[in-house]
Amino acid sequence: MKVYKGHILYTKDPGRFEVLENGCVAVEADGRVIGVADCPAALDCADAEVIDFGDRLLIPAMIDLHVHAPQYRNLGIAMDLELLPWLQNYTFPEEMKYADLAYAGRMYRRFVYDLWRVGTMRSCVFATIHTAGTRLLMQLFQEAGLGALVGKVGMDRNSCDGLTEPVEEMVKGYEALIAEFNAPDARVRPIITPRFIPSCTPEMLRACGELAARYQMPVQSHLSENKDEVAWVRELEKESSCYGDAYDRYGLFGQTPTVMAHCVYTKGKELKLMKRRGVMVAHCPTSNLNLSTGIAPVRHFLDEGLCVGLGSDISGGHDLSIFRAMVYAIQVSKANCQQHPKWPFLTLPEAFWMATKSAGRFFGQVGSFEPGYEFDALVIDDSDLNHDRYSLLERLERYIYLGDDRQIVHRFCRGKEILLPATWPAAAGTSAAGASVSAAILG
Ligand code: GUN
Ligand code: FE
Repeated sequence: MKVYKGHILYTKDPGRFEVLENGCVAVEADGRVIGVADCPAALDCADAEVIDFGDRLLIPAMIDLHVHAPQYRNLGIAMDLELLPWLQNYTFPEEMKYADLAYAGRMYRRFVYDLWRVGTMRSCVFATIHTAGTRLLMQLFQEAGLGALVGKVGMDRNSCDGLTEPVEEMVKGYEALIAEFNAPDARVRPIITPRFIPSCTPEMLRACGELAARYQMPVQSHLSENKDEVAWVRELEKESSCYGDAYDRYGLFGQTPTVMAHCVYTKGKELKLMKRRGVMVAHCPTSNLNLSTGIAPVRHFLDEGLCVGLGSDISGGHDLSIFRAMVYAIQVSKANCQQHPKWPFLTLPEAFWMATKSAGRFFGQVGSFEPGYEFDALVIDDSDLNHDRYSLLERLERYIYLGDDRQIVHRFCRGKEILLPATWPAAAGTSAAGASVSAAILG
């Protein structure tokens, strides 16, 4: 058992932060939180090793509920098109390159390193159609010690030549990955990932639903992101009453734990179906802006009781940091508020809760310091930002708005401190030397 001391901030509920000045969190050897208290004596753990972080902030680690690893090279470029032409012109041609394992290894390593760097300890990831590349990405997550649900992507229509896979190959590839990454309680696991309805024939969707049911696997995809996409799905799936119903008919809408990215145009029947099926939403505010998609009505989703987390949606989104995603989520909700005055904008504790405890539900008990939760945490040394007598809540808010990886001094996933493997090029540097580290990794 270990006891970590510091200024503890986390959210149990969306409405407010829990704050313990000079508090303690006790963590069992299996990586789960025993409890949080003002002093070790209150935790009944006299013989535990105590690690004191002094004046630093101790918060739950970030969770990215929707991100495309093979789009990492396109980060910050190709922002001049809406979703469908953006996919055809920029995204599919990039993803095709992942047939080359050497390229995949170079890019994926950089991606996983950067997730670690920005404090994201769990993520829900799209890879590509390629089984070998997907396996490599999963191995890199394992090597790094980060938690991830990783999807080999199902696509068999409306793509470029070379970026589709026949249904039987898809099933064979998935079954191989499921067999390889089957350790009980594994931190890195596969997730069934039909790209979206326009990329998948009914046979592909049916096979994905059958895999999810047969192996009791979670599911991720995209839903109601863009007006042209929604109209296209209506044409493709004429019998379905809405886009969500099209997934539902193939067993891909909450029959097993399911997360759908975007949901910008989700309302009425679709919203009710999501609620009934417990389908989670990955809200990706920077992607909503960059792809000129529109803004997802997150306040409405929360009022309706949907479970919402945050995603970076690289490279539709341009920023891997979930701290930045919190800020954008609040800002886009403020822009939306002018059009929909009945939906008040999001607050900071709500955004933090979405990025931690709410998203964490998809990974089990992750994202809080309540008893039984897996201890995923960041230690923030904000001394460079704390130049006056700021309260602890103000310090956290300033870190979220102004900070970056330079202030993250320790990272934990399931109770274990996550240092990069010594064999990774970046491990030789420190986070303060971010620029040179990045150069080394690219070289
Ligand atoms: N819909 C289908 N594929 C994608 C993708 O790669 N990014 C986004 N933002 N939406 C999608
Ligand atoms: Fe996406």
